[in-house]
Amino acid sequence: MIQFSQYKLDKVKEIIERYPEGKQKSALLPVLHLAQEEFGGWLDVPVMDYVAELLNITPIEVYEVATFYSMYNLKPVGRYVFEVCQTGPCMVRGADNIINYIKEKLNIGVGETTEDGMFTLKVVECLGACGYAPMMQLGKIYKEHLTPEKVDQIISECRNFAASNN
Ligand code: FES
Repeated sequence: MIQFSQYKLDKVKEIIERYPEGKQKSALLPVLHLAQEEFGGWLDVPVMDYVAELLNITPIEVYEVATFYSMYNLKPVGRYVFEVCQTGPCMVRGADNIINYIKEKLNIGVGETTEDGMFTLKVVECLGACGYAPMMQLGKIYKEHLTPEKVDQIISECRNFAASNN
């Protein structure tokens, strides 16, 4: 059964209360983030339906939002998700090379996850850090001025961290 922990339910309530009566749909984005965090890093249809029920809106209203924003995953993802920016300024600074390098290095395509379930590669639109191009988001952190060497370093750091936190 899909259900938030009590801690997360309290958070949902707190978020809903930020908005006027009847406007609980405004809480949708942060609640979807909580749901993604709580239910394995992605939003399965029953999870989105559960969110709809909590916010007293229709499931389609949730699907529309979840499918629009690249920050929501609609299928299972790896432990580490590389969200590489592919918008103009990052492209001009070599985002294409970085994306290709990651594909080769991890032997996956865009939207795919490594067999060991460790890494997923996504491409996303401008993340507002154009001055640090090329860049990607990794969890809550921005990795900037990417080069193949930096990518190697990030991958090893992730692997080391995962190995010491199993
Ligand atoms: Fe990549 Fe803006 S274009 S962060």
